[in-house]
Amino acid sequence: MARFHASALLAIFFFAFFALAAPVVETRQVGNLTCNVARLRIVGALAATNDDVSKISTADATAADAVATAQSGLSSAGDGIKTIAGSILTGQQAPASARDQVGQGLIDAQTALQSIDGTDPAVTTALGNMAKAIKAGQDVVANCK
Ligand SMILES: *[C@@H]1O[C@H](CO)[C@@H](O)[C@H](O)[C@H]1NC(C)=O
Repeated sequence: MARFHASALLAIFFFAFFALAAPVVETRQVGNLTCNVARLRIVGALAATNDDVSKISTADATAADAVATAQSGLSSAGDGIKTIAGSILTGQQAPASARDQVGQGLIDAQTALQSIDGTDPAVTTALGNMAKAIKAGQDVVANCK
């Protein structure tokens, strides 16, 4: 399910990416190359993080709680990205709230993962991909004007 959504999002972003070639497209929403590369990176990093989080051991109740919180943050971030992608495709201004939703979802997920004690390597991997998603999100903010 998560995998399907990630692929659908990638398809949407590739569509937006190649729409750059069309000269009549409103470039403000579609964004330049740097912007679209950052969009692809956030989608890819988010999919990788979801994958990693699903591998974290939930044997411990506290860890299980943190994983559930992280998953809900990631899901909220994904919903924000879908809203933004939908706006781009329909040529509408993406609502600022959707961008905030992505940022907040990532931060919530990161905070939850950081609260997990122990040596589960999946936590470390998830946090690594999470950092990539956050960095890509910052690049989107900087480059998608
Ligand atoms: C893309 O647009 C952003 C914001 O307008 C700008 O800062 C950045 O330098 C641009 N990148 C390229 C490769 O044109």
